[in-house]
Amino acid sequence: MQLGVCYYPEQWPRAMWADDAQRMAALGITHVRIAEFAWSRMEPRAGQYVWGWLDEAIDTLSARGLKLILGTPTASPPKWLIDAYPDVLPVRADGTRWNFGSRRHYDISSETYREACLRIVTAMAERYGAHASIVAWQTDNELGCHETVPSYSPAARRRFQAWLQRRYETVHGLNEAWGNVFWSMEYPSFDAIGLPNLTPTDANPIHLLDFRRFMSDEVASFHREQIDVLRRLAPHADLLHNFMGFFTTFDHYRFAADNSIDVAAWDSYPIARTESIALPEEQKALYARTAHPDVSAFDHDRYRAIGGGRFWVMEQQAGPVNWAPWNPVPAKGMVRLWAYEAFAHGAELVSYFRWRQCPYAQEQMHSGLNLPNNELSPGGLEVQQAAREIAASEALSGLDAPARAATALVFDYETQWMFEIQRHGKTFDYQTLAFDYYEALRELGLDVDIVSSRADLSQYGLVVVPGIAVIDDALIGQIERSSAQWVFGPRSGSKTADFAIPSNLAPGALQRVLPIQVLEVESLRPTLSPATSIGGTRGVAVHWREHVRANGETRVEAHFDDAWPAVLAHGRVRYVAGWLSHALHRAVLEQAAKDAGIRVHVLAEGLRIRRRGNLTFAFNFGAAQVEAPAPVDATFVLGQPQLGTGDVCAWQT
Ligand code: GAL
Repeated sequence: MQLGVCYYPEQWPRAMWADDAQRMAALGITHVRIAEFAWSRMEPRAGQYVWGWLDEAIDTLSARGLKLILGTPTASPPKWLIDAYPDVLPVRADGTRWNFGSRRHYDISSETYREACLRIVTAMAERYGAHASIVAWQTDNELGCHETVPSYSPAARRRFQAWLQRRYETVHGLNEAWGNVFWSMEYPSFDAIGLPNLTPTDANPIHLLDFRRFMSDEVASFHREQIDVLRRLAPHADLLHNFMGFFTTFDHYRFAADNSIDVAAWDSYPIARTESIALPEEQKALYARTAHPDVSAFDHDRYRAIGGGRFWVMEQQAGPVNWAPWNPVPAKGMVRLWAYEAFAHGAELVSYFRWRQCPYAQEQMHSGLNLPNNELSPGGLEVQQAAREIAASEALSGLDAPARAATALVFDYETQWMFEIQRHGKTFDYQTLAFDYYEALRELGLDVDIVSSRADLSQYGLVVVPGIAVIDDALIGQIERSSAQWVFGPRSGSKTADFAIPSNLAPGALQRVLPIQVLEVESLRPTLSPATSIGGTRGVAVHWREHVRANGETRVEAHFDDAWPAVLAHGRVRYVAGWLSHALHRAVLEQAAKDAGIRVHVLAEGLRIRRRGNLTFAFNFGAAQVEAPAPVDATFVLGQPQLGTGDVCAWQT
């Protein structure tokens, strides 16, 4: 359990650096990330490198025993570079280019820009790659943030055409796979294919999907080019990128493949995230100062798998931020709670954004561990408390890595893209559906691993697939070989990899283990709400419902009031024929967990638990005082079982 901080020496007078370093170490901070936006100070003019200030900053921090994470500065190309190569600026879907004057103003497909990045990264790595205090390198910053991916530039178009040629080999093959006979969309050659923007009505969904697949690969290859340099010149450091919460623009499983990261780092802003995702207004109101109890956990559990078991929080909210629709001060205790929450889910490091609030420029309204006048902020004081507690407790400082959970939730990036391209109903959002299932599992007191459908799923007792657009033979093989209970949500197996309806209808290949067919689907306006009961729970379908025929020996476990099946099952596989109201999802999952022999424990509102090593942690995000579900003879290593808002406790099991 280590603590870190993001620091920008270039934004403060040199006279402050030594004191900052001393105070960081005294606070209990062990890791400091620097440099990720400092290109204009490292290379003020083309080819003219100025390292003296960075040498001094690195020396000052390492003199206090602080370990450094060095960021490559490619998220903010300097003005001279943009003036020399204006085509580095990214192109928006409406054909206009973004301007200089903030950050992330680069086209990820620009070869000119990629070369400039390799020059600065190589120069940095040659200078600092062997430095003993630099324990990690971060590439760029939050790839894809601010909707700068995709870029609709001429460079993107050329590279997309080459990508398509590699995938389809012949233009005839592409025309067939895309179904381009429809509306006379057939292409005579690869170089005739454009980007799927500025069309009068919908572009062909497979054209849009292939463009998203291509852009996802572009993000991965942009990062990969830097990694190849860093592996060579900084062979002893951990290499990483700081991912974002609830972010699906690129396929993180593919990004992380082939050793392209050593640890998955991500940036956690729980209150701002709660404000900006599609949650019901009552929940946003209820959790306005604590954040929704599952919003960070969802990404902790996702990034743990993406990092192959290793994850860090690279930027942790430590007070009010500046970028959500509303930015309240967190409830007392939350900054401390979020640290323990991340550790309970397996984080090795929790690093705060940022050391000190910057009184000027874009983020002057964003808090840090210190106020602009250099006093510890309320969040900073909570971090100090957590640091002292951890240092004083052997049980907390010597925790084992988390074990595999009994329950897996399959999350699939391509499914997100396919259902964004073809929502069919304006409120259907796959990630929101996945989050609803996740929330239900967590309310049942379960630990969850969020994984790819291509991960080894054989050891899980319960596998929940909230929906997956394409079901391939490999996934059917996993079902056949496992002894788990499986739950599939709506729209599963509803598409082929070429974005068409399977010839045997949805759920496609799933019919081999669950003989059902989806005859028609409907999206539901808020006034259409087919009702059903599951066990003793009454509720409705929202957003989406399917008319499903049960074939062979498939059982119908629950019907909608209009007689269509709501839940169908065959052997160990269940199918949920709609997006059900939350309590119904929980009822289905509770039954599946019981069938899998997994013990569930319905938790009080706002209470969550998570096990790591021999400890169980409990967290209260709710307004009421609650009691942690610890055995009567439990030994507490942190806090006590009565939890007020923002309280955390942990006991030995
Ligand atoms: C992150 C970003 C940081 C900072 C922070 C503010 O998205 O990586 O540089 O802008 O947000 O919350």
